[in-house]
Amino acid sequence: MMNMKILVTGRLPQDIFAGLKERFDVEMNTEDKPFERKKLLDGIRNKDGLLSMITDSIDEEFFERAMHLKMIAQFGVGYNNIDVAAATRRGIPVSNTPGVLTDATAEIAFVLILAVARRIVEGDRMTREGRFRWWAPMLFLGHQVTGKTLGIIGMGKIGTAVAERARCFGMPVLYHNRERISPSLENEVRASYVDMKTLLSRSDFVSLHVPLTERTRHLIGREELSLMKRTAYLINTSRGPVVDEQALLHALRAGDIAGAGLDVYENEPALTPGLTELDNVILLPHVGSGTVETRMRMAGMAAENLITGLSGEVPPNLVNPDVLATRRR
Ligand code: 8YV
Repeated sequence: MMNMKILVTGRLPQDIFAGLKERFDVEMNTEDKPFERKKLLDGIRNKDGLLSMITDSIDEEFFERAMHLKMIAQFGVGYNNIDVAAATRRGIPVSNTPGVLTDATAEIAFVLILAVARRIVEGDRMTREGRFRWWAPMLFLGHQVTGKTLGIIGMGKIGTAVAERARCFGMPVLYHNRERISPSLENEVRASYVDMKTLLSRSDFVSLHVPLTERTRHLIGREELSLMKRTAYLINTSRGPVVDEQALLHALRAGDIAGAGLDVYENEPALTPGLTELDNVILLPHVGSGTVETRMRMAGMAAENLITGLSGEVPPNLVNPDVLATRRR
């Protein structure tokens, strides 16, 4: 495989990079920022493999230039940035990194649940700025999380891991998913399947764990937000466009919901103007999987997928199995 060329669009840990360099001729983005579009389009012309990030648009324009491409290994579980159908048509396998980021992302969902309800960020700001002048029984109160109802939309690996954590907080869990999960798993995580309306109107926290697809774009808009309790919080660690951010801003301003904890944005990294002025929203820079441990595992998994795919075998985390019938030899 030594004569194969690969493009890696984000800076990877040194030992993973070294492992790839032993096998391939590697071009890697060494800056900690998204790879420029022009560099991507130029760089892919002579490459056999791509290790891509969520910030790369892998679209028709890209594929037109990727004449030698045989494998795309995405660094991430979500791959809405990749036109998978276009890859399949060209016989190019696409892989992702499921499982290794489940716990880290479930943690961030819980961080946001706790932080928004207990006003952690606001409290830190107030203390730092010298505005903690005295204690009083009714000052700076948040809302308790224990015993509150958690509504999970999207009950895949991450949604399930969030449900598991909810048990420690004695939270009844409602969930909605395209398909009902097995009765044994429902039992294990003590989650009840309900329709969207019931979930939105009964939950104290609504946490989103769906992939971004045409079906889930703006899944949460004006109507859905209006069904939520005025005391409820929206948590989004999935993809920004799942929420209509304008509608969310409006609901937060009007007090239609109590607050929001966001790790992702509709036009990431741009924020809808007005969002930063609100105290009842916590804004994180897309760090759901952002732990040293998890990013190391994601890098290792993406590299393994790329190596396996380029050796002509089926990569372990193939997302377009249809490609096997059409793939380039
Ligand atoms: C990553 C993610 O930060 O896996 C995902 O889908 O959103 C995150 O884990 C991102 O994919 C990096 O490319």
